Amino acid sequence: MEKMKAIVNTEYGSPDVLRYTEVDKPLPKEDEVLVKVHASSVNAADWHLLRASPFLVRFSGLGILKPKNTILGSDVAGTVEAVGQKVRDFKPGDEVFGDAFVSGLGGFAEYVCVPEKFLALKPTTVTFEEAAAMPLAALTALHGLRDKGKILPGQKVLVNGASGGVGSFAVQLAKYFGAEVTAVCSTRHLDLMKSLGADHVIDYSREDFTKNGQRYDLILAANGYRSIFDYKRALSPKGVYVMSGGSGGQMAQAMLIGPFLSRKNGQKLGNFLSTPNKKDLLFLKEVMETGKVKAVIDRRYPLSKVADAIRYLEEGHARGKVVINVVD
Ligand SMILES: NC(=O)c1ccc[n+]([C@@H]2O[C@H](COP(=O)([O-])OP(=O)(O)OC[C@H]3O[C@@H](n4cnc5c(N)ncnc54)[C@H](OP(=O)(O)O)[C@@H]3O)[C@@H](O)[C@H]2O)c1
Repeated sequence: MEKMKAIVNTEYGSPDVLRYTEVDKPLPKEDEVLVKVHASSVNAADWHLLRASPFLVRFSGLGILKPKNTILGSDVAGTVEAVGQKVRDFKPGDEVFGDAFVSGLGGFAEYVCVPEKFLALKPTTVTFEEAAAMPLAALTALHGLRDKGKILPGQKVLVNGASGGVGSFAVQLAKYFGAEVTAVCSTRHLDLMKSLGADHVIDYSREDFTKNGQRYDLILAANGYRSIFDYKRALSPKGVYVMSGGSGGQMAQAMLIGPFLSRKNGQKLGNFLSTPNKKDLLFLKEVMETGKVKAVIDRRYPLSKVADAIRYLEEGHARGKVVINVVD
């Protein structure tokens, strides 16, 4: 069996349990593509799965006592090495990007097998790093704004947590959909928000957007950051609040209290789960190629330093995305 380098976690725990080691190179099943990974990127999902946090993660089929998927990493950008018998869309040598979150992850390795339905041809105008920065975070922003938030041109849209992975894509996508966008971030990211196209920027360390008299048609909170009642105050009468992630308390509020605060013809408050698909990856490819959306890359780490990359992301202050370079 051929070997490859990978970051492996055979137990739940902090980034200290991650090992940089050699494992068997995977073989593609009939609907899978074997990708030689050039770059991946780190998402909150990686440390949630690594730590089994929240604890319920253990009971969602991912392993009660130890993880079933022993290589993390949802985001993948690389070159097709081989394809399964039923794969139609790709051939060896194609440059691809995709999201392996629901197919068992595995991006923190030299090779990964991904079902072809979770891959698309890489945008031709961007680097592997930029392509790897995109899938999970940008799809989450897209699904939050378009599918759950039902964004419309001309709407007043606020993105809280606008300077992180999900938020930096949400600001650009909301502009793409024709909204008037307000980005909420800290002082050090004000310029970045303007460069991404935000019409208004609110520094959360100086101004409370829930108390400035403005009302928004759609609020996307990358992380909860605030109570659901604060968001309700900042919504227009038919406004929608969508939360992509957050603390256990904030998630519980969105799931349990959100439905009670939502009205049939009025405000809607809740969270959502983003699931990858080829159609939306192709949408991302197009908006990247036309320059409408770009990846903001904060830091880059080599494969051997994934643990450091996750530690950095866990601090909660990344400016855009944290990328893993698998090929130098
Ligand atoms: N629902 C789904 O399907 C789905 C899919 C993917 C991800 N998620 C979730 O999405 C969430 C967001 O992920 P992410 O990658 O965007 O996070 P992230 O990159 O770690 O967010 C970091 C950013 O948040 C900002 N921030 C920190 N505290 C803030 C505050 N009080 N108010 C406003 N901004 C603040 C930071 O800016 P400063 O340093 O300036 O404070 C930093 O730029 C995670 O919880 C993840 O689990 C959900």
